[in-house]
Amino acid sequence: MKKTLFIFFILMIFALNPLVLAEEVEITMAVGTVGIEQELAERAAEIFEEENPGVTVNIQAAPETSDERRSVFLQHLDRESPEIDVYQIDVIWPGEFSHYLVDLNEYGAEEIADQHFAAMIENNTIDGELAAIPWFTDAGLLYYRTDLLEEYGFDGPPQTWDELEEMAAVIQAGEREDNPDFWGYVWQGYDYEGLTCNALEWIHSHGGGRIISEEGEITVNNEQAVEAVNRAGNWIGEISPPETTGLVEESSRIIFEAGNAAFLRNWPYVYALASEEGKAVAGKFDLAPLPAGEQGESSAALGGWNLAVSRFSENKELAAELALFMAGPRIQKMRAVEGAFNPTIEELYEDEEVLAANPFFEDLYEVFENAVPRPSSQTGELYNEVSSLISENIYFVLTGDLGASTALEYLEMDLEDLLGFETGELE
Ligand code: GLC
Repeated sequence: MKKTLFIFFILMIFALNPLVLAEEVEITMAVGTVGIEQELAERAAEIFEEENPGVTVNIQAAPETSDERRSVFLQHLDRESPEIDVYQIDVIWPGEFSHYLVDLNEYGAEEIADQHFAAMIENNTIDGELAAIPWFTDAGLLYYRTDLLEEYGFDGPPQTWDELEEMAAVIQAGEREDNPDFWGYVWQGYDYEGLTCNALEWIHSHGGGRIISEEGEITVNNEQAVEAVNRAGNWIGEISPPETTGLVEESSRIIFEAGNAAFLRNWPYVYALASEEGKAVAGKFDLAPLPAGEQGESSAALGGWNLAVSRFSENKELAAELALFMAGPRIQKMRAVEGAFNPTIEELYEDEEVLAANPFFEDLYEVFENAVPRPSSQTGELYNEVSSLISENIYFVLTGDLGASTALEYLEMDLEDLLGFETGELE
C-alpha cells in the first residue's frame, strides 16, 4: 500500500511539473549601454523579479549609439521577432516605430500618464496611441572645470560662444605646458545622431532657428546658421581635438574625465560618472547651460529615452507591466540618484534625495524645460533620413570638405527633395 502511494506521489510530481513550468515566464528588455545604464536596468529587473515570482527578466545590451541601436531594433521588428518584448526607444523614434508597438494606454498607462511631463506624453502619442512611456529625459549641457577657471582668473562659466573660445584657448595654452593631450573644448562630432543634436544647439543658439520650423518649413539655410556651423568647424584643431570627427558621448566623456579638457558638451548622465570617487575631475567640475551666440540664446537639444512594448511580444501584458514599473517613480528615482538620469515624472524634481544627488536638476531646471526638440514630430517616419542629411552635411564642414554656407545650401536642397517641403523664411 505504502509503495503504491509513493509511486502515486512521484507520478503526481511529474504530472504537475509542466504546470509549474508553465507559470515561468521570460521577458526580454533591450536597454542602452551608455555609462551605467545597463547595470541600473539589471538592478531594477531584479526588483521586478522579486515582486513577480516566476518571471525572469533578461536585460539585453543594445549598442552604444542611438543610430546603431535603431538599426538593430529595426532588424528585429522588421522580421516580426518576438525575441525582444520591451525596447528602450529614443525620443525621436515614436513616429517611425509606432506601427510596431502596442498602445500602452490599453495596458494601464492612461491612468499614470499625467505623472509625466505632458510634452513627453504628447511626443510619444501617435494617432492617439501611446507608443512608449517616458523613462528619462536629456538636455545638452556644458561641463566645465571649476578649478581651472579659477586658476586662470575666470569668474564663472562662459555665457557666450566667444567667451567659451577665449577661456578654452587660454586654459589650453597653459595646461599644454605639462599636458600635451589637453584640449579646450570637447564635444560629439562623429557623423551620427549626436552631431545633429550638437548642430541644432549651435544653430539655435545663434538665432538660426530649428533647421525645420515647428510648422514644417525648412529654415536651415540662413546667415546665423552659417555663422554657427562655421564657428564649430573652426574649433577643430584649435580648441577641439582633430579626432572630434570620431567622438561620441562616451569617448568625449572619457577625455573630460581623464582631466584632459576644460569644457565638455554632454548629457546629464556624465555628472554621476565624473563625480565618482577616484575620478580625476571629481569635485572639480560643475554644469552650466551651453553658451549663446550674439543673436540667440543658450540652447540645449532635447533628448531622452522611452520604453515601448513590441506588437510581436508573446507576453504583451507582462511586458507592459514591466515597462510601466521601470518608468514608475521608484525606479526613476533610483536611476536619478545613482545615475543622474533626469526623471520624466515631474514630482521627482521636488524629491530631496534626487535633488541632493543632482543639485543641477533644480539649478538648470529651465534648461530642461526649454530644451529644443529635433524636428522629429514634423517629419515622422522620415526623421531618420532628415537627421542623416543634417549630420552628413555638417560633418563635411567639420572635416574641411565643405564651407558652412555651401553645406547648408546642400542640406536645404536635400531636405526639400526628401520632404517636398517649402523653404521658409526664418521669422
Ligand atoms: C542621447 C539622447 C538621445 C539622442 C542621443 C544622440 O542619448 O538622449 O535622445 O538621440 O543622445 O547621440
